[in-house]
Amino acid sequence: MASHHGAVGLGSPRAPGPVGGVLHLPDGVRSPGLHVRDLRVQFSTRSEAGENVLRSAVDGMDLDVAAGELVAILGANGCGKSTTLKSVIGLAPVTSGEVWVDGEQVHPHHRSSAADQHEARRRVAMIFQQVNLVRRRTVLDNVCAGALGRLPLRQSLVASLFPHDLRAEAMLCLDRVGLADRALDRVGQLSGGQQQRVAVARALCQRASVLLADEPTSALDPAASTQVMELLATLAHDEGLAVVAVLHDPELAREHADRLVGMVAGREQLNGAPDAVARDAVEHLYAAAAAVPAAAPTSDRPITGTRIPA
Ligand SMILES: Nc1ncnc2c1ncn2[C@@H]1O[C@H](COP(=O)(O)OP(=O)(O)OP(=O)(O)O)[C@@H](O)[C@H]1O
Ligand SMILES: [Mg+2]
Repeated sequence: MASHHGAVGLGSPRAPGPVGGVLHLPDGVRSPGLHVRDLRVQFSTRSEAGENVLRSAVDGMDLDVAAGELVAILGANGCGKSTTLKSVIGLAPVTSGEVWVDGEQVHPHHRSSAADQHEARRRVAMIFQQVNLVRRRTVLDNVCAGALGRLPLRQSLVASLFPHDLRAEAMLCLDRVGLADRALDRVGQLSGGQQQRVAVARALCQRASVLLADEPTSALDPAASTQVMELLATLAHDEGLAVVAVLHDPELAREHADRLVGMVAGREQLNGAPDAVARDAVEHLYAAAAAVPAAAPTSDRPITGTRIPA
């Protein structure tokens, strides 16, 4: 099991450094976990004048999540949190930057073999606020589906062909999230918090070593939120996963995360252990977003507005 304490802030030196006094080590990208370097993502959108403009969603983001560590990402609506996570699994149009998973570079694509990249991407699981499960299928089938990336195509197509040993593994995953007794229920019969835990079990069945959770607690009541956060912390601390959770509740983040990363306008603004990050520094993340001038093509933030031909 990896020790998470003292493992914070791996990565190349940066200036100016984030608040929180985090140590940055060179060559951290090759260490286990997730390492994002100078990530930039731009979307093409139309201005009110009908011109195409490039909008920066992520603008030089660095992120390090060591194996065994739970990192919470905080920041105002539209600051690029989800896009950062989606970039890691290839769901956002990355303009430039590097993404490393367990020492393997998964972006840019050409730097490693297709097989190595496939294996590295398989190690990353993402769970969403709107739980992405098949409600009409059983809990167990949904968890087994986490293994699709490593099953032969024939078995991937028909759920009833999930092999016995996979079903046994899925049961162990369900046991780890405390839901083994609900394995044969349909997912639609479970509460939101229980469904989120099934999503975590599916990620475990994927044998992920990096877990990305985008607002995993936003739809949950306080008790269920605590349960999901405790589960994420256990996976990091006891099982050595690198876990990153986008949260909209700074106090929940302080309570459970080893490190807080704050984003403003597509990049890191704050980085430190909860004890080292002042509450007003967190409040400033949201105030800074509100203070961005309204001279932008739309109300979304952040915006750089580079014009490209229509
Ligand atoms: N598919 C897309 N096409 C165009 N613009 C997009 C797309 N996805 C995101 N954006 C823009 O990128 C910016 C960052 O969006 P993102 O979803 O990453 O924000 P967020 O920090 O997750 O916000 P929230 O807290 O509201 O979930 C926003 O300005 C958003 O409008
Ligand atoms: Mg989001």
